[in-house]
Amino acid sequence: MKILDHKPADGTTKARRCFIETWGCQMNELDSQRMAGQLMQQGILPTRDPREADIILLNSCSVREKAEGKVFSRLGEYRLYKKESRFKKSPREIREPLIGLCGCVAQQVGERALKKVPELDFVLGPARVGELREVIRRRRAGERVVATGFPEERSFEMDTISREGEYKGMVTIIEGCDKKCTFCIVPMTRGPERSRKMGEILAEVRHLVDYGFLEIELLGQTVNHWRDPETGEDFADLLEACATTPGVRRLRFVTSYPRDFTPRMVAQLGQQANISPYLHLPVQSGSDAVLQRMGRGYSAASYYELVHQLRAARPDLALSTDLIVGFPGETEEDFAATLEMVEQVRFSSIYAFKYSPRPGTAAPRLGEPIDRPVADRRLQSLLALQEGIQRQLNEELVGEEMEVLITGWGKEPGTQSGRTPCHRAVHFPASQTEQLGGMTRVRIEKALAHSLLAQPLAPATAPPSLLPVLS
Ligand code: SAH
Ligand code: F3S
Repeated sequence: MKILDHKPADGTTKARRCFIETWGCQMNELDSQRMAGQLMQQGILPTRDPREADIILLNSCSVREKAEGKVFSRLGEYRLYKKESRFKKSPREIREPLIGLCGCVAQQVGERALKKVPELDFVLGPARVGELREVIRRRRAGERVVATGFPEERSFEMDTISREGEYKGMVTIIEGCDKKCTFCIVPMTRGPERSRKMGEILAEVRHLVDYGFLEIELLGQTVNHWRDPETGEDFADLLEACATTPGVRRLRFVTSYPRDFTPRMVAQLGQQANISPYLHLPVQSGSDAVLQRMGRGYSAASYYELVHQLRAARPDLALSTDLIVGFPGETEEDFAATLEMVEQVRFSSIYAFKYSPRPGTAAPRLGEPIDRPVADRRLQSLLALQEGIQRQLNEELVGEEMEVLITGWGKEPGTQSGRTPCHRAVHFPASQTEQLGGMTRVRIEKALAHSLLAQPLAPATAPPSLLPVLS
């Protein structure tokens, strides 16, 4: 690849490298791809070793306290690399790595991060990702930059996204969030909701299909609240337009907000066979009293009703959800209603979290804090209940033949991993011809609690050619 011959203009001899560490949701994953792409356009290649990097970016998550706490200890490690680099390189090559704090913690802490970590070079909020190159240029000129906040015009520069090593094409359709869930910090870190135009989204989907992606994943904090800013077309229209774009083999979207689902959207799930029979539909709690204090704007009954409609439209639909235990004031009865919800709906997987108070949110004022051992016990019993259900649901799939999207190499030598149409993880012996992002057919042989084991069937479709951004 000619890029490896790239000689930096500053007299150093080695190609420069960047190391990007990503925590959190899919939006952060895509933001990291956007940052990597901008750097690659300047000939700065990714590395897996932060010690060899000239630019280190930590794309952080602040949704729970634990993740946020880890940010500063991680930055502490990067500081050491910066100090080490002074000794390691020959004098001609001395160039300390730049360290940037990006993502939701960057937005939240802003300038304070520069004070706390003297070696930190810049702070870049999620709505300013498109400005990375400019921020680096300003830093090289001597300024310690804080680029946070929410500009009116946000760029979605698809030409500079590095999709290297990816098996799916992610497309942002709506940014930010206008909901006011009382536990959630995301509206503060990702800013007000902003939808992209349908035409722009479809152009990106076509580009990704041409590039070789078989699976397209539409992204947003409340993805089904999307509305074209000019025409007023809604998410049902967008689903139809994306699903009928030639070459889209598998279409997924995340995260849907229960109250924003309309009958037309439900109907699309039934009508478009290439929309995955899988939906992530966070419910958070099974108790009406808790849902009300969370400000979610729906009841347990209306969630059950939506699940019923969705499954009527798409009987093979697998559902996953997010649940919070130990929300302020949560009683044993409230928690029992959550267990009941899990038992009734039979989710294919759940993401269960202990409530974590976040700065600037209303929830801490809305009820008595729950003691840690109580929250721990609730989390454990929720996970234990789910594990049994999940194993049972997985066992029902044994013997079925399915098309699998290949997501990577397995842990065992000679195996690959993939995702079924219902988004379950599956592991199977590798075939010679299959590559990341390709499809293959398998028969499910064995069910585990968190994944499936399978055997490959007949020859698969031609693998996609995943071209590097710069070749
Ligand atoms: N709509 C978003 C939600 C972002 S937060 C999305 O795209 O996923 C992801 C999940 O984290 C939420 O659904 C919620 O279950 C959990 N969460 C958010 N804030 C939390 C908090 N303060 N404590 C514990 N869990 C939280
Ligand atoms: Fe957070 Fe609720 Fe929006 S969970 S991201 S405020 S929909």
